[in-house]
Amino acid sequence: MSRSTKALAALVLAGAAGFAAAQAVQGSSPGSPSTQAGSMRQVPDDPAPAGQQQGGIQGQNIFDVKPEVKRDAPADPGYMEQNNGQRNRVQPGNNAPMWRGVQKGVEGYTSLPKSEAPEAGVLIQGPVQYPGSRMTTAGEAWRQVRNNWIVPYGGSLLLISILAFAIFYFTRGTIGHNPAVGGGGRRIERFTPFERAAHWSNAVAFCVLGISGIVMAFGRHFLLPVLGLQLNGWLTYVLKNLHNFFGPLFAVSLVVIIVTFIKDEFPRKGDLGWLLKLGGVFSKSGDEPPTHRFNAGEKVVFWIGAFVLGLVLVASGLVLDKLVPSLVYVRETMQVSHMVHATAGVLMLCITGLHIYLGTIGVKGAYRAMRDGYVDEAWAKEHHAYWLEDIQAGRIPAQRSSDGMAPPAETVKPA
Ligand code: HEM
Repeated sequence: MSRSTKALAALVLAGAAGFAAAQAVQGSSPGSPSTQAGSMRQVPDDPAPAGQQQGGIQGQNIFDVKPEVKRDAPADPGYMEQNNGQRNRVQPGNNAPMWRGVQKGVEGYTSLPKSEAPEAGVLIQGPVQYPGSRMTTAGEAWRQVRNNWIVPYGGSLLLISILAFAIFYFTRGTIGHNPAVGGGGRRIERFTPFERAAHWSNAVAFCVLGISGIVMAFGRHFLLPVLGLQLNGWLTYVLKNLHNFFGPLFAVSLVVIIVTFIKDEFPRKGDLGWLLKLGGVFSKSGDEPPTHRFNAGEKVVFWIGAFVLGLVLVASGLVLDKLVPSLVYVRETMQVSHMVHATAGVLMLCITGLHIYLGTIGVKGAYRAMRDGYVDEAWAKEHHAYWLEDIQAGRIPAQRSSDGMAPPAETVKPA
């Protein structure tokens, strides 16, 4: 070892050794009633040597530390119960008791106020067992849940969903025969401009959040090998900030969507039959059983996907963004929120993935209905026969928004 390397090593290790030495100076003899096994707090019962009376941690040169002053120290029956001070009297420089305490989550001293930094005195969280992890320090338990469960099983579930949509599309094809407009009959307003604005704001935010979330959770497995460390790191950093920014936008638009559509999402006549026949997609005729404005499949997606998973996702995301006032943001809060958020996120991606599939290439005319707001009677009869009956009977107006806001007929082209 060169002289300069040796000097640097001495400098670095002096701090650690100094701490050990100070502990040794403060420590009491084994078995003394003033000490507690494994405790971080020690009551000095040995006067400090002259010159060290003024307190503070004294530095010590690592090369002056004698590794063992008592060769048979481990044979002592109370060896494992020694606190750090006691250990350093027999084995100077051995700080195992202190680190054992740190690993158990024992709180040390900090001058920072608890109200501002509630966990500043806890270097490592104590042991805990999260669902799917071993009993271990909380940070490691969280890491195990994320890396052994959420990432592999969540990623597989997403891939399986995409594969299922692809198989369905290539074997069954697009559902339905009529375009949104052009199939025949009167033009009906299916979604008002307000409903479409709320829906598309939410859809755009969802797509940004979904893509950035996938990159953050799974990117190192499929992007890192292609992009390399620097580009992948840069991309993930940008997407992570977009994720934080679009989260609150998604939260607000989700609440608007729920409030806007909820009145038509409750179970009604025809829903059970629709569910039992799975919307008729596997029947020979391919005819869809009659339903009101939304079918039972849309209702299931609404309640499970948007209502339950969406609200859980938003709530846990707001905690992760530290936007919930007066909540104490300790590590455990963040770990639990992260696990809930990631799990709800993967499930919502799968279920909303189904909605996006059906709303784009899955059902003929559906996308145009949400884009332009209009369908004609032929489309309504094919997909929502009871809804059309209500409109024809005058129970529901065919045009709900003011005429001035409706697009001119020629802009609504056949799908
Ligand atoms: C790119 C993403 C999306 C696309 C392409 C899309 C497409 C569509 C389409 C075409 C409709 C009309 C269906 C019909 O006429 O019955 C619709 C309705 C609806 N969408 Fe989306 N959507 C997307 C994202 C979302 C998201 C993220 C949510 C909420 C979490 C959502 C919630 C709804 C709701 C509540 C309705 C009303 C009918 C229903 O309950 O299905 N959509 N969407």
